Amino acid sequence: MDKQEALEKLKNEMEEDKTLPLRTSETRLVFGEGNPDADLYFIGEGPGYNENLQGRPFVGQAGKLLERTLSEIGLKREDVYISNIVRFRPPENRDPEPSEIAAFQPYVDREIEIISPKVIVTLGRFSMNKFLPGEMISRVHGKPVGVKFKGKDVIIVPMYHPAAALRAGRVLEQFREDFKRLPQILEQKATEKEEDNIEQLDLL
Ligand code: URA
Repeated sequence: MDKQEALEKLKNEMEEDKTLPLRTSETRLVFGEGNPDADLYFIGEGPGYNENLQGRPFVGQAGKLLERTLSEIGLKREDVYISNIVRFRPPENRDPEPSEIAAFQPYVDREIEIISPKVIVTLGRFSMNKFLPGEMISRVHGKPVGVKFKGKDVIIVPMYHPAAALRAGRVLEQFREDFKRLPQILEQKATEKEEDNIEQLDLL
């Protein structure tokens, strides 16, 4: 089975899984999308109003900022993979609850295993906490951390959520600065020299 087929199968399983929380007559599944061979996997929080309408991740204002900032480093959204920690829109865009995050976790983990990215960029605190529990974004944003995920080395780069960047100019500046480091982080990973510069964690 190739990656695209494996992702289709995963999506179908999620559509069929009636135990998943946040599924209502008003919500639709928002699966990840992008290049299945991407080196960069972006993971946000959960679908908002526009994402729920279109059934696609990051298509509203936060998504537009994500696309603009990607273009500043020469990338299009089709070059990367974009996903979320929960896959149905929480009511009124409230924060996802721990039990909801836990229910989606096996699917998120399988998606990451299929894509097998070199670098995972977490957008906001919920996806950051999956890999770096208890960390604070204001302390670690933009700093690459090497972790083992399901036995494989991957670099986590925690970043502010683009919606937070839209709310405050200072956060927007940081968000854009953090993005500018991504090509170098990817390059380092490609040449396997990251051990020299990247803090190593063995959490997963
Ligand atoms: N915010 C998110 O965290 N994810 C989306 O898909 C859209 C907005």
